[in-house]
Amino acid sequence: MTETLTVLDVVSKSADFLERKGVDNPRLNAEWLIAHAIGLDRMSLYMQYDRPLIEKELSVMREQVARRGRREPLQYILGQAQFHDLLLKTDSRALIPRPETEQLVELVKESQPEIDRDFRILDLGTGSGAIAIALAVHFPKAKIVATDRSDGALALAKENALLNGMQNRIEFIRSDWFSELNSDSEFDIIISNPPYLSSSELDEAETEVKDHEPHSALVSANDGLDDLNTIIESAIGYLGAAGELWLETGIDQRQQLLLQCEKSGYRNYEGLDDWSDRQRFIHAMK
Ligand SMILES: C[S@@+](CC[C@H](N)C(=O)[O-])C[C@H]1O[C@@H](n2cnc3c(N)ncnc32)[C@H](O)[C@@H]1O
Repeated sequence: MTETLTVLDVVSKSADFLERKGVDNPRLNAEWLIAHAIGLDRMSLYMQYDRPLIEKELSVMREQVARRGRREPLQYILGQAQFHDLLLKTDSRALIPRPETEQLVELVKESQPEIDRDFRILDLGTGSGAIAIALAVHFPKAKIVATDRSDGALALAKENALLNGMQNRIEFIRSDWFSELNSDSEFDIIISNPPYLSSSELDEAETEVKDHEPHSALVSANDGLDDLNTIIESAIGYLGAAGELWLETGIDQRQQLLLQCEKSGYRNYEGLDDWSDRQRFIHAMK
C-alpha cells in the first residue's frame, strides 16, 4: 500500500531536501513550489496542510523541487517574478529582474514628478522588459524604445509587454547597443542595466546565477566596465537637450565611470547609492 502524503509532509520533506542541496531559505522555497504546483498562494497553503495529495500533484512537485535542488532559480521554475507592482514572465531567456533595478526605476520616477510629459525613453538591454514596462505604466504619455541584442530576451520582453497591456507603447528593436537606432533619434531619458560583472565576479556568484542565468546578460569585458563605458560614450549623441542618462552599475566602478562621463562631455554627473548604501547608480545630464 502506498503511503498518503499531505501538503505538510511534502513541504517538510522538500525543505529538508533543499537544505541538503544548499538552497537558501529552504522552507520558504518549498512552500512557494508546493503552493504553485497546486495552484494556491503561499498563505492559503497553511490552511490546507492536512490535505492529502494525489499522484498527479506529487509528480509535478517532485519535478519542480528537483529543479530547485539543481539550484535553478525559483523565479524560472515558477515562471514569474514581481517587479514593482507588475507581474513578469521569467525564464532562462533573460535575467531575473532585481530589487536594485526597481530602485533605478524609482529614482527616475522621483526625478520626474510631471508624469504626463510626452517623454521619449530608451531602455538599452531590456531583458525581460522590466524597466521599459514599468516606465510605460508610470508615464502614460511616454514613447518607449527598448532594445536588446538577444532574440530570446526580446521575445520574452514582448510577451511581458502584452501581459501588462503595454504592447502598443513600446517599440522593441534588436540592436547591439545603439547600432540599429537612427542616428537622428533623440531621447529625454536613456536608461540601462547592462552587463557589468567581471568574469572573476561571475565565478564567485551563487550557483543560481552562474549556472542558470544568461552570461551575456551578466558579464562585460575590461573588469565589467566595457559595456557601461560604451553606453556612456555613445548615449550623449542620442540625448535631446537636457536629456538624462541613468545606469545601474557594479559596486566598485563609480570612479572610472564618472571619469568616462567627464571625458564624454556630460554637463553634470553623479553617483547614487542603493538602499544598502552600495555605489550602484550613475546619473548623467547632457
Ligand atoms: C543585466 S541584463 C538587464 C536586463 C533588464 N534590463 C533588467 O534590468 O532586468 C543586461 C541585458 O543587456 C543585454 N545586452 C548585453 N549586451 C548587449 C549589447 N551589446 N547590445 C544590446 N543588449 C545587450 C543582455 O541580453 C541582457 O538582456
